[in-house]
Amino acid sequence: MPKVTIDGQELEVAAGTTILNACQQRGREIPHYCYHPGLTIAGNCRMCLVEVEKAPKLVIGCYTPVAEGMVVHTASEKVVTARAAMMEFFLINHPLDCPICDQAGECRLQEYAVEYGDGESRYTEPKLALSKAVDIGPHVMLDQERCIQCSRCIRFCDEVTKTGELGFFERGERSQIGIFPGKRLDNAYSGNVVDLCPVGALTLKEFRFATRVWYLKNTPTICGGCARGCNVVVGVGQQQTMMTTTGQLDDRVKRIVPRVNEAVNGHWICDEGRLSYEREQQATRLETPQKAGTGTTYDEAVQAAAATLKAGKPAMLASARLVAEDLFAWKSLIVALGGTSTSFRRVVRGGDDAILYRADKGANSKGAEWILGSAASEAPGSGPLLVLGDTLDPQDTAPKVAGRPVVFVGPFVSGAAEGAAVAIPSASWSEADGTFVNFEGRAQRVRRCHLPLGEARPGWRIAMDIAEAAGVSLPAWGSADDVLADLAKAVREFEGVTPETLGLLGVPAAAAARA
Ligand code: SF4
Ligand code: SF4
Ligand code: FES
Repeated sequence: MPKVTIDGQELEVAAGTTILNACQQRGREIPHYCYHPGLTIAGNCRMCLVEVEKAPKLVIGCYTPVAEGMVVHTASEKVVTARAAMMEFFLINHPLDCPICDQAGECRLQEYAVEYGDGESRYTEPKLALSKAVDIGPHVMLDQERCIQCSRCIRFCDEVTKTGELGFFERGERSQIGIFPGKRLDNAYSGNVVDLCPVGALTLKEFRFATRVWYLKNTPTICGGCARGCNVVVGVGQQQTMMTTTGQLDDRVKRIVPRVNEAVNGHWICDEGRLSYEREQQATRLETPQKAGTGTTYDEAVQAAAATLKAGKPAMLASARLVAEDLFAWKSLIVALGGTSTSFRRVVRGGDDAILYRADKGANSKGAEWILGSAASEAPGSGPLLVLGDTLDPQDTAPKVAGRPVVFVGPFVSGAAEGAAVAIPSASWSEADGTFVNFEGRAQRVRRCHLPLGEARPGWRIAMDIAEAAGVSLPAWGSADDVLADLAKAVREFEGVTPETLGLLGVPAAAAARA
């Protein structure tokens, strides 16, 4: 392993490591635009210039591998002068859009201009005028004037989706980012170019002008869209001026962006997952408990649910989108009431693709399999039926439950909820803590991103209340973590799975058991 000296500190790094990566391993950030760990190296922005002793000129840190005995300076006078010059170049044609640009608050051009720029420009000629607000796809808008030509978006479409919609056109000073004639940026991962763009040249239609990024409360969690379990950050609006008439904060999901997890989704998410919050917000939510289709109080609904489920040998049919803690709590209730039939429904749509997308829409299908056994398409048993729903998928029709009394617990009004003797609202995917297990058996933490809507509450809590009303006992759980502790004792595959072993990136369940 070569030994290098970076800013006076000696370190050993693996052969082939670039100077930029060696610096990152040391916790030292080298400014960069075109470099991205999920793409090939382009080396065209020249922002990552560093000084290497005995080299005739500055070198780019993103492309140059370290060599034995190399001495690198990342903040020498030459480097500082070169960075300021680069910033001056980047800003020559850049518009003064910051006050109206959605990237403000997370814009690398703003940040580097402050940190590395001179604060002045010697360029007095008119700026190049290019097209603004160009509609290039169903989700993405392009502002050509803001582009700094890092080529990240082009490489994403060439290397990841392999759809090649974007390119540079013209030459020299007139060079500009654009879309090939007759093409639309409509691949299933198009939103990633917005995350990749270091400036405000590419913006997401669904998020632009929705809020300023500094008003977002960001929570690391897991996408509930399919069995891949992509790691995401959910941004919830917290803007005081957007308070509702009832005095509540805005408190709604404004955007979902990927969170890096090399073992699951790398750096990307699909557009369907990115925009899943819209479907959730558009679907009709069950906000208040109902008895025979009429609104009632939570306590009355719980009493009625207990009476219905006690009237025979209860069975349960769950959605594979429920967190493991809820599935375990509900199964425990059915067993305590003398039932034995517990199953879940698998929702499959389309096929898997070669990037991330899984046809299995159950974010917790594997966890459901471990807790409840194999999936069923029809309602199990013959007595009263507990339907645990999340029927967001239009193809996910209500199970056939003719003639059986149904207790429905779920976040949305679905076919099963409409015909149910009792319907109780439960927290949706972004409103409660829990655990999903992805199709590869990786357990990952789902976090509450905002308060549940209306009278919804976590499923495990409702199960406890129904148990109490029915006169059967469940453990005195005080949180989802308490339920997980009992689940880990009861179901072999969850052995060793705790909030600590899960951490931010999750853990293969079998590995947690060995830890
Ligand atoms: S990208 Fe937007 S916020 Fe950043 S400098 Fe340009 S106009 Fe300003
Ligand atoms: S649009 Fe953004 S990501 Fe694409 S080349 Fe320009 S600055 Fe880079
Ligand atoms: S990050 Fe190195 S040249 Fe762009």
